[in-house]
Amino acid sequence: MIGVSIEGAAQVLRPPADGMPHLRGDELEAQRLDPCDLALRDGAIAALDADGGAELRVDASGCAVIPGFVDCHTHLPFAGWRAAEYEQKLRGVPYEEISRSGGGIAASARALREHADEEVLAQADALAAEMLASGTTTFECKSGYGLSRDGEMRALVLARELEVRVPQSTVSTALLAHAVPEGHSADGWMGVVQEMMPEVIAAGSVTALDIFVESIAFSNEHLELMGELARAAGLALRCHVEQFSSHGSVPVALAAGARSVDHLSMLPASDIPALAAARCAAVLLPVAEFLGDEHRAPGRALVEAGALVVLATDANPGTAPVVSMPVAIGLGARLYGLSAREAVGAATINGAWVLGLEHDRGSIEVGKRADLLLLDGPIDAIAYRLGRSPVGAAFVGGRPVYVRPDFEHRMERR
Ligand code: NIG
Ligand code: FE
Repeated sequence: MIGVSIEGAAQVLRPPADGMPHLRGDELEAQRLDPCDLALRDGAIAALDADGGAELRVDASGCAVIPGFVDCHTHLPFAGWRAAEYEQKLRGVPYEEISRSGGGIAASARALREHADEEVLAQADALAAEMLASGTTTFECKSGYGLSRDGEMRALVLARELEVRVPQSTVSTALLAHAVPEGHSADGWMGVVQEMMPEVIAAGSVTALDIFVESIAFSNEHLELMGELARAAGLALRCHVEQFSSHGSVPVALAAGARSVDHLSMLPASDIPALAAARCAAVLLPVAEFLGDEHRAPGRALVEAGALVVLATDANPGTAPVVSMPVAIGLGARLYGLSAREAVGAATINGAWVLGLEHDRGSIEVGKRADLLLLDGPIDAIAYRLGRSPVGAAFVGGRPVYVRPDFEHRMERR
């Protein structure tokens, strides 16, 4: 593997200290942003210094260097889109109503059934390429559009196949309780979930279980049960909670040992202190909030209370047909009032923590995997120039896997 010397960067985003597993409260704003050179070797960050012997010299003058984005909440792979539902939403039809009339998750489940593996993977490949050009170097995949035992297992196999096809690394979550499959009651389906756990574990690629708690989906009791299944299997528990209405799910999730609670648009203020004190991330999904005209999670209050705040895209064909972390960061900054350092920390090291990868990536530290982005300006432009990718080049494991044409001239091979 070649050595890389990244030279002359105007800003290099570094954690306040080495070895921090995540950044809470003031730690986000305490990230350093000084000029620095970097040497990459054997896939890792070798030194905070130039390397005269490196085979690839990168002129980073005027650039910011930040860790690759870790998108810890996406619903890839999925089949097709649901643009007609967005038109309905624009006219004020609520998500729950669209869902009850056969749209929503059930519509994407039908599309998944109707598309061949290769078609689903081709769509996901294209999305992964878009994600890379927007700086995502690690992302999570979820099942959840299978809506049958075989369908869920197929989705998990497709997610694993995707991992070997794309330059990024991926992590798989089994979202086994997403919508109640036709012909089942919610309780009955949870029985099926319980029965299929040996198969899910045997698949070997799953690191977390997930559940959607909502009036149109599953209940807090089902969340408790999913927590038991996760604990027994040694998997992390994640959950979609407090999205369209409040069900008081966060205390239940915390008691069940959840690694993350995701959405939180309807989180009551009284739940903030316990969440902030817990070893559980608050994954905020501003794209879904903005496009769905949902309520707004108390992002600023969560940061100030010291919660482990994370930003992700929620990329899916329903609530968030957006794969760009810069867009999620831009909307998150605006909707919650986050600074550039806060938003980028929430989208990198904190996302890595949710996926259990914080020891290995998510921040610029010697010894960590060299998953890095070269931005074409300062980090505050990520949110400010909303809708545009500032990524000039992306490195995964020390290899330049994406170079924008206007950045080619900065790459000097020796
Ligand atoms: O995270 N809330 C549940 N799941 C997804 C939406 C899935 C869909 O509409 O296809 C979400 O928003
Ligand atoms: Fe989601």
